[in-house]
Amino acid sequence: MNQVSKLGLILALVMCGLGGTAAANEAADDSGMSYDDKLQACAACHGENGDKPLAPDYPILAGQYADYLQAALKAYRSGRREHPIMSMQVQALGLTDGDIAKLAQHFSSQKGLRGLGE
Ligand code: HEC
Repeated sequence: MNQVSKLGLILALVMCGLGGTAAANEAADDSGMSYDDKLQACAACHGENGDKPLAPDYPILAGQYADYLQAALKAYRSGRREHPIMSMQVQALGLTDGDIAKLAQHFSSQKGLRGLGE
């Protein structure tokens, strides 16, 4: 790749990033939901601590690495990862970067996957 096209790529990535953040923040304002409301929505399917999924094929979030949870939520938000239920949740709740970081921290710090047998 030559210098000019590299620069174009970097600019495009930066602009996507800015656009994405702005759109997510607007969505959050539209949702009119507090962080606690959003956490309750997640809890309905994953359990309060992310360790009691509603259905056996719903993943356990408790004790999962926070980085992984954040990456998964951002992937649903960007459309890189698609699932009819989760993609819709992330859209409807208008998750911001801040929400995602807090939710990931919350579920990661619960006793779960990595805590088994401890
Ligand atoms: C209506 C039920 C429902 C709600 C509400 C819900 N989820 Fe999910 N969640 C699912 C299902 C089903 C999957 C599995 C999707 C897949 O296979 O990609 C999933 C997957 C995930 C994953 C990926 C886990 C992995 O191991 O890759 C994360 C992270 C997650 N949910 C977090 C959340 C958070 C945070 C909220 C609240 C903002 C939330 N979910 C709300 C049903 C739900």
